[in-house]
Amino acid sequence: MNAQAEPAVAAEAEGTGTLSLLLTAIRYAARGIHLYEFRRAEGDEPLPPFTPGAHVDLHLAGGLVRQYSLVNPPEDRSCYVVGVKRDPASRGGSVFMHDQLRVGTQVEVGGPRNNFELAAGDAPSILIAGGIGITPIACMAARLRAQGRSWELHYSVRERREAALLDQLEALHTHLHVDAERGGLLDIASIVRAAPAGAQLYCCGPAPMLDAFEAAASGRDPATVHVERFTPIAPLALGGGYTVRLAASQRSIPVLAGQTILDALREAGVEVQASCEQGICGTCETRVLRGVPDHRDSLLSAQERARNDVMMICCSGCLGDELVLDL
Ligand code: FES
Repeated sequence: MNAQAEPAVAAEAEGTGTLSLLLTAIRYAARGIHLYEFRRAEGDEPLPPFTPGAHVDLHLAGGLVRQYSLVNPPEDRSCYVVGVKRDPASRGGSVFMHDQLRVGTQVEVGGPRNNFELAAGDAPSILIAGGIGITPIACMAARLRAQGRSWELHYSVRERREAALLDQLEALHTHLHVDAERGGLLDIASIVRAAPAGAQLYCCGPAPMLDAFEAAASGRDPATVHVERFTPIAPLALGGGYTVRLAASQRSIPVLAGQTILDALREAGVEVQASCEQGICGTCETRVLRGVPDHRDSLLSAQERARNDVMMICCSGCLGDELVLDL
């Protein structure tokens, strides 16, 4: 979430509902990473627009819904391309895509949605990517280059053969860090320390990298520090013992121990949008009219949390007896 993001385009980029798209190509990008290209099965109507940093929801077999960042240029509305790393330790989406999804399959695609937008203005941009975190960052780098803005990219991989999308990254601005060749991890603290005071900093990668980045950038203006997480930073709020009141109908719905707000609403027959159900995609963001949420998402900034005017109902709870939601 970023209050300074390019507002006109960002608002346009928030897609709702799903489209049934055809998987038209799978390409090798690096060891363990494939690019998946989706197009309309019929007709050539442009796909819904998106901005660099956006992701789509892929509805896979067995009810799996997974979020993947778009890597193709936003100007090309003929297709969506996502990069997926096969990760046997993850929740199953990437393994399914690598091992079972075939060209010619029809896939429900939701979004696009963007929680990792480029800030407006002409401040220099420092991009930091680790592993598969390069997918949104590559798209952002392409936009910055097209706009003639000042930027640099630090891209960290464990081995050279794991580096994806190098062909679309401008070598002049890209610093590739190969752990195995340098004998250590990317020195994120030094990069952040060297960044000009007003620079916009973006980081996407594994959790330890993001934690190091946030620690290094903790003294900077929070509006200049942007992260995109693929995994949740906090457990779901499952304590229950409070009530959610829906402003439109004035219905009061109890949230029991072991339930999220989303669970309780669904059980009561209330239809609400949700996707990741882990607090990382933003689909379930809901306005809070009264009460204090127990924020557990990985999206809202410290300032946004402190305002307590929105929350992710798939993961966050309540710090009092009642929440009044704009539903
Ligand atoms: S459904 Fe993804 S943040 Fe709640």
